[in-house]
Amino acid sequence: MNDKLALPVGTTLDRFIMRKQEDFPYATGELSQLLRDIALAAKIVNREINRAGLLDVTGAYGNQNVQGEEQQKLDVIANIRFIRALRNGGEVCAIISEEEEDIIQTGNTKGKYIVAMDPLDGSSNIDVNVSIGTIFSIYRRASETGCDGTLEDCLQNGTRQIAAGYIIYGSSTMLVYTTGHGVNGFTYEPSLGEFFLSHPNIVTPRTGNVYSCNEGGINGFPEGIKNYISYCRDSGYSARYIGSLVADFHRNLLKGGIYIYPSTAKAPNGKLRLMYECNSLAFIVEQAGGKATTGTQRIMEIEPTELHQRCPLVIGSAEMVDKVEEFMKAEA
Ligand code: AHG
Ligand code: MN
Ligand code: MN
Ligand code: MN
Repeated sequence: MNDKLALPVGTTLDRFIMRKQEDFPYATGELSQLLRDIALAAKIVNREINRAGLLDVTGAYGNQNVQGEEQQKLDVIANIRFIRALRNGGEVCAIISEEEEDIIQTGNTKGKYIVAMDPLDGSSNIDVNVSIGTIFSIYRRASETGCDGTLEDCLQNGTRQIAAGYIIYGSSTMLVYTTGHGVNGFTYEPSLGEFFLSHPNIVTPRTGNVYSCNEGGINGFPEGIKNYISYCRDSGYSARYIGSLVADFHRNLLKGGIYIYPSTAKAPNGKLRLMYECNSLAFIVEQAGGKATTGTQRIMEIEPTELHQRCPLVIGSAEMVDKVEEFMKAEA
């Protein structure tokens, strides 16, 4: 990390974004504005989530999304709020979302950026007051400005992300993001309506003793993963699984640990979505010194072929991810 980039705890997100921009002499400010748009949408969604139990916005929406999942009302609300903020902001020409089958054209054909998002992650936890999140990736469009974003613009591999982040709506709400120069976390102060830098330059521990996976599905896991889980048990590791990827990831990022959503007998490519979940968290974890693979391949190097493509995810502390790869190789 460049020391010039260090800013004190308590710096507001707006000031932080502005100061970072000053460190890059040719920056035009558009990415900064885009990050501010995301922060604004996060505040609005945070407000909806906090009042969810009072406003009849919990529960099912009565529709299935393209993933074949029952959409929750808050999935739909978060999707609308983020799209609206990005459309009003003007920097984004196209958006892809877990909740939408096709590319969403914003009409801002001059926009230089593409956003991929999981507007509401952990939807099964909405109704029971457990942490949920939003995940996003930002890419520079590959096509010329002046027309709609293309499928090719949207299907870039993870190494081409220029920023990625997540919001965790938890015991406090946080925004964690990277632009490829380390990872910084901001905590929301609701009475002031501001995010403040609370976790500067996050570095994830090299190793840990927490493993997170839905062990209920173990019979359908690949042999290498089954063996790794036995190794975790034999080593006396703690099992922690919230069932909200953002929340499981956030805990492991700060404390050390590994999150695994492998291929299963029912879902040979796993459950999680490359473009909306895996790439973004892979960029963040690598920027924090960790790793993200499928068990055999680096996530960010997967060439996407479909918007809603899924892939197995093994993500977290570098030494733990390496260990999984050893177990996978042994069974290959
Ligand atoms: P989403 O709510 O965005 O559809 O994502 C759900 C994901 C992820 O948050 C979580 O880690 C995983 O589904 C849990 O799946 P299982 O219930 O199969 O463990
Ligand atoms: Mn979903
Ligand atoms: Mn999700
Ligand atoms: Mn989701």
